[in-house]
Amino acid sequence: MNRLDHVRARVLGIINSRLAPFAARGDKNLVKPTYICFKLSERCNSKCIHCDIWKNQQEDPLTIHEWFRTLDNIREWVGPTHVVFTGGESFLRRDTLDIVKHATGLGLVCEVLTNGLLTERHHCEELVKANVDQVTISLDGVTPETHFAVRRVPGMYDKILRTLDDLDEFRLKHKARLKILLKMVIMRPNLHEAVAMADWVKAKGQAALRYQPIEQSYAQAENLNWYKDSDLWITDVARVKAVVGELVQRKQAGFPIRNTVENLQSMIQYFENPDREMRKVQNHDERGSDLCLSGVSSMVIASNGDVRWCFQMSPAGNVKTHRPQEIWKNRPECWKQPCPWFG
Ligand SMILES: C[S@@+](CC[C@H](N)C(=O)[O-])C[C@H]1O[C@@H](n2cnc3c(N)ncnc32)[C@H](O)[C@@H]1O
Ligand code: SF4
Repeated sequence: MNRLDHVRARVLGIINSRLAPFAARGDKNLVKPTYICFKLSERCNSKCIHCDIWKNQQEDPLTIHEWFRTLDNIREWVGPTHVVFTGGESFLRRDTLDIVKHATGLGLVCEVLTNGLLTERHHCEELVKANVDQVTISLDGVTPETHFAVRRVPGMYDKILRTLDDLDEFRLKHKARLKILLKMVIMRPNLHEAVAMADWVKAKGQAALRYQPIEQSYAQAENLNWYKDSDLWITDVARVKAVVGELVQRKQAGFPIRNTVENLQSMIQYFENPDREMRKVQNHDERGSDLCLSGVSSMVIASNGDVRWCFQMSPAGNVKTHRPQEIWKNRPECWKQPCPWFG
């Protein structure tokens, strides 16, 4: 990825996001996906309390050549767009680095999202040398105890700290522009460490930080009422308000918090009124749009090649048999009203 590809990807993203509200209401062919997520593996080596993906034992993954072909098709169709490699845990594949390197070689702006358990020193150097734009590591506590309470794998916290040091070292050594992001999902078991996390990240000076409020556990059958009997849901809204207030102060003082102030504040409304705010949170859209953006700006390709825009719907196609652009054109199911999920 060179600087020009980066600029083009940004411009494409901006144009798409301006067109998205019109596309969501009318002509969906105005837009191409600008958030493409590749789930390289549906398996996982963690045992998180907020995500059931690790309970999935089986998958029928694409071969490395099928991934290469899919990436080639995407580059040809969309241009140098942002793509995310994730899972499950993508590093459970032995050839993940080769797939990522193929993508950066095509000029795609690549993010790798990982739980940090398998990122060895040589992975870190290769990611840096491959010009990956961003490595995002999930960290759900500022202490090993709290991270363990969420992730339930011994030694994971220390491993993440080593990965941070390695990435930082190789970034300096190779004069790379790699961004490192830590991602914390805010939920009842770790709310008490959310502010300390911002202080810790600032003091370390290696990474930026993004907060994400808890949603229904991934890989569960959808249930709009999930939060009502969840131990992870935060009912103490006064405490959320106090924490968000502290985070906003830090953000305004220049701490490396990626969320906008509005996005941080929207977490108060979410915990206050989840029924009203759930769609916005599930959209993962910084502007807080409550228009459904499924089939408008995002595309998820599962490890077996299935393509989806929305987890309420069955897959729209598979990249083993069709090119992503053909599947994208054929997505009218998305627009049938009423939506079975949000009406
Ligand atoms: C599904 S994981 C896949 C990547 C990798 N295994 C990891 O944990 O970073 C992607 C992100 O989703 C987040 N996540 C999982 N379950 C969630 C939930 N119920 N609510 C909000 N975020 C969740 C994880 O914490 C992680 O940051
Ligand atoms: S959040 Fe990531 S690490 Fe945890 S179970 Fe889900 S996929 Fe695995």
